[in-house]
Amino acid sequence: MKIAFGCDHGGIANKDAVIYYLTTSGHEVKDFGTFTEESCDYPEYAIKVANAVVSGECDYGILICGTGIGMSMAANKVKGIRCAHVTDAFSAEMTRKHNDANVLALGARITSKEDCVKFVDIFLNTSFEGGRHLTRVQKVMEIEK
Ligand code: RB5
Repeated sequence: MKIAFGCDHGGIANKDAVIYYLTTSGHEVKDFGTFTEESCDYPEYAIKVANAVVSGECDYGILICGTGIGMSMAANKVKGIRCAHVTDAFSAEMTRKHNDANVLALGARITSKEDCVKFVDIFLNTSFEGGRHLTRVQKVMEIEK
């Protein structure tokens, strides 16, 4: 799959581990930055990743900031994005099964590199269940209109 990746200075500590996992798992990564530890504004990266997913350029997006909260708030402002802020393995699984999330937001200051990789792995390898959950996701997307 083609994965859009973005982080800010608060998330960069876990960036290499996640990108290493993605590329060694056979995914293509489009890295929207940031590329240094210099302080920057997370919405700039969230919107680039969100647009890449909505346009169809990328299949899914992964965002990392300090907590994952700011990135998820910003990404969810983009029409068509269902970004899940995840801090545990169960949520990583359920947000694909039940919410059909297309962007995963993680926090490098609260989640270890190992857990970030684990949550990304679960997220990308779990399918949407559809059925009654599709009806609910459609109702969520109706709110955008
Ligand atoms: C940056 O200091 C921090 O605010 C950012 O990475 C993120 O945690 C915001 O939600």
